[in-house]
Amino acid sequence: MVPSSPSFLAPADLRHNRLHPADRAFHDWYRFILSYPPHLVRDYLQQFALDASAVVLDPFCGTGTTLVEAKKQGLTAVGVEAVPMAHFACATKTQWAVDIAALETMVGRTLERTAEWMVAAPLRTFAPAQQTLVMRNAINPLPLHKCLVLGDAIAVEPPGPERDILNLALAYVAVQDASNLRFGPEVGLRRKRREDAPVLASWQVKVAQMAADITAWSHCAGVRTHCHRGDARTLRSLLEPNSIDAIITSPPYPNEKDYTRTTRLESVLLGYLKNKQDLRAFKETLIRSNSRNVYRLDDDDQVLSRQSQIRRLARTIEAKRIALGKTSGFECKYHRVTTLYFGGIKRHLLDLQGALRPGAQLAYVVGDQASFFQILIRTGELLAEIAEEAGYQVKGIDLFRTRGASATGTQLREEVVRLEWHGVVKQSRSFVLPHSKFSKGGAIK
Ligand SMILES: C[S@@+](CC[C@H](N)C(=O)[O-])C[C@H]1O[C@@H](n2cnc3c(N)ncnc32)[C@H](O)[C@@H]1O
Repeated sequence: MVPSSPSFLAPADLRHNRLHPADRAFHDWYRFILSYPPHLVRDYLQQFALDASAVVLDPFCGTGTTLVEAKKQGLTAVGVEAVPMAHFACATKTQWAVDIAALETMVGRTLERTAEWMVAAPLRTFAPAQQTLVMRNAINPLPLHKCLVLGDAIAVEPPGPERDILNLALAYVAVQDASNLRFGPEVGLRRKRREDAPVLASWQVKVAQMAADITAWSHCAGVRTHCHRGDARTLRSLLEPNSIDAIITSPPYPNEKDYTRTTRLESVLLGYLKNKQDLRAFKETLIRSNSRNVYRLDDDDQVLSRQSQIRRLARTIEAKRIALGKTSGFECKYHRVTTLYFGGIKRHLLDLQGALRPGAQLAYVVGDQASFFQILIRTGELLAEIAEEAGYQVKGIDLFRTRGASATGTQLREEVVRLEWHGVVKQSRSFVLPHSKFSKGGAIK
């Protein structure tokens, strides 16, 4: 039995987010810095006391932590993810009906092809339009050459779950073993660059580990999962009406992070991003959470009520910008990101309703922020406010952990907002909540 939430840890302890060795199977095929730990999902699945026929949804599923964990527990799960690379990772991590003998044959053929093609000069590089998307020095020429040749050798194999595994292993190896990237939590460069890397050997080990996971968990291969590529603000066409019993999810937070940077190298390597137009197209499907993906025609803020706390918060941010004399393009957009972000979350909550069964239980993991001129954004409190406006019952807000904010020297709360849906659409109304209606505390000094 895998230990569940390490309740002995203090909220600020970073071990909250680590992948427990006993949880490794499938989760570590490919994860990103934004992933939450499987024990969090397990805790809420347990708390929700779902029966075996329940369907779990993660509308912002990232690399699939909720779906993998639900499948391990024998529960049907559905995911929605806008970023193609994360969607591919989630879909591959939850496809366990794999022919292991065919996979092994493919590995052998791919290695032979790669060895033959690898020696051809000159070294392979990204096309100029791809190169502009990848951080400078993200990967040195020789490891990049090896990854590109391996990618070409995989591409010759017939499509299907086996080939998907080979590609996901390549994405993992390219980032973890071949690149110079470091995540902590911003994407940066390792001090010691990798001039070369044993790409083929690492890839073979990774595929073998994936095959071993599939074999060990074959008893759960029939548990249904499906990951949609889509936008959580427009779910109606993706989800069956009245089909979802529970949600465990973590949407983006309103911080100044560009979420598309986290998966950039492997997105280009696997062909999901070919040029700036591709990047722009998929940024438009994201919840607006930073000033680099705000566009002129964005209107998610229109669903917010006029007296919403969020509008007041946006006015405070804009007033502080003016008082500080800040005029840069991104600073001028902070107040707009704030309303577009919460408007996008509200659109999601409204669009979701048709898919929920009455009594559905929801858990939204979100973090407070102070990225915009150090003004505290109580994300959990504000999400609870708009959820209540949208007709959900707010059951409470649990503290998951805290994170240090270097700019302010405070600890910011990461919380789980618990909601229930009883199938009653309330008129959207504007009201003000007492600050501590759902939970206690603000930034922790
Ligand atoms: C905090 S991450 C979720 C990580 C996930 N819990 C995991 O364990 O990997 C938020 C995810 O929401 C996705 N996202 C952002 N806007 C979206 C939208 N409008 N529709 C669907 N997914 C979206 C991002 O690409 C990102 O993968």
